[in-house]
Amino acid sequence: MSSANQLLAEICGVGTDPVRGGYSRHLFAPAERELREWFTAAARARGLRVDTDRNANLWAWFGAPGADAVVTGSHLDSVPGGGAYDGPLGVVCALAAFELLRAEGFSPRRPLAIVVFAEEEGGRFGVPCLGSRLSTGTLAPERALALRDTDGVTLAEVARAAGHDPAWFGRDVETMGRIGAFVELHVEQGKGLIHRDAPIAVGSGIIAHGRWRFSFTGQGNHAGTTLLRDRCDPMLPAAELVTAVRRLAATVPQARATVGRLVPVPGGTNVIAARVDLWLDARVPAPGSTRALVAEITERAEAVAEQEGCTVEVREESYEGAADFDPALRDRLAGLLGDAPILATGAGHDAAVLAPFVPTAMLFVRNPSGISHAPEEYAEPDDIDHGTTALARVLRELAG
Ligand code: GLV
Ligand code: MN
Ligand code: MN
Repeated sequence: MSSANQLLAEICGVGTDPVRGGYSRHLFAPAERELREWFTAAARARGLRVDTDRNANLWAWFGAPGADAVVTGSHLDSVPGGGAYDGPLGVVCALAAFELLRAEGFSPRRPLAIVVFAEEEGGRFGVPCLGSRLSTGTLAPERALALRDTDGVTLAEVARAAGHDPAWFGRDVETMGRIGAFVELHVEQGKGLIHRDAPIAVGSGIIAHGRWRFSFTGQGNHAGTTLLRDRCDPMLPAAELVTAVRRLAATVPQARATVGRLVPVPGGTNVIAARVDLWLDARVPAPGSTRALVAEITERAEAVAEQEGCTVEVREESYEGAADFDPALRDRLAGLLGDAPILATGAGHDAAVLAPFVPTAMLFVRNPSGISHAPEEYAEPDDIDHGTTALARVLRELAG
C-alpha cells in the first residue's frame, strides 16, 4: 500500500523552479498539466472514477457519483516558487485515506469523492480559487475568461488550448449540488501547531482577505537626459506606498498587508517607468476592517501619486469575506480526533469559498518551519501519516 509520503515523492520533480527555487505549478502550464495526468492515473489505479467538471476541477469518486457526497481534496497548483505541500498535501492524504478505506472494505453510505480545484493560488491569472468561485457562481465566467496572464494570454485561450471548452465555464449547480460536506486537509501555514505542540488541528475559520492592484501612471522617459525636476516617475509613489502599507497596517490589530509583486512598465534599467503596477494583499480579522484598511492605503496612494505628478488607479481584483466553518462539524471532528486543537488561519482556501454553501471543515497538519509560500514549507513524514489517518477517520465518520 502506498502512503501519502510515497505519493508526494512521485511528484517531487514536477514543476521545480530553477530560477526562484521551490515549485511553480501554474494553471494549464506543462507542470500543472502533468500533475493533472498524474492525479488521474493515481486515482484510477486505486479504482476511483475520475472526471473533469465544467470549470476544469478534477473529481475522483470512491463509488458512483451522487447527492449528499462527502468530499475532500485541495489543489495542485502553486504560488510562484512555492513549497511542496500547500495543496498537494490535501490531495495525497485524500488518495492515501481512500486507499486505507478501500483496504478495510469500507462501504460508504454516502457518496465519497476527492476534488482537485483549479487555480487555487491565482498564480497565473491573479484571482485565487478560480475553480471553486466559478463553480459556486461567486465569480462570473465572463470576468474569469477575460483574465490575462503575464504574457497577455486569456484564461479562455489557455483553457481551450488545454482541451476545456470555455463556453462551459460558470456556475455548476449539478456538481456543487452533490456536495453534502467538504473537508479540506492542508499543511498549516504559520506557527499555530508548533505553539500547540500537536500534529493536527481542526480549522475554525479564515479571515477576510483580498487583492488590490494599484497602477501608478507617470511619463516614461530617458534616464540620462531627463532632469530630476522634469520627471513624473511612478516608481516614487510606488516605493512610498510600499512603506506606507507597512506603517498603516501596523496600526490595526492583527492586520496583515503585503506588497509581494511590483512591476514597472516597460521595465528598463535606463528607462524612467511609464507605469508601475503593484499588488496589495490585505487581511484583517475584525469584521469590515480589511476593506477599511485598503481605503486608508488608497487615500495615501492618491496623495503620494499627486506629489510626483502621477495618477493612480486602484482595482479590487478579488475579495473573500471571513469564513466561519460549520461549528457543529468543527466540534464533531475535533472530538473525533481526540480533542484536536482548533485553529483559525489567515491563509485562503477553496474551503472558504464553499463554506457559505455547504458544511465545511479543515484539517491542518503541523509545519515545523512555520513557513509557507516558500521552499522552506515542510511537514514531517510522521505528521503526514497522522494527517492521512485523521482524514480517513473523518471520512469513515461522515460517510459511514
Ligand atoms: C493562499 O494560499 C492564500 O492564502 O493566498
Ligand atoms: Mn497557498
Ligand atoms: Mn493551499
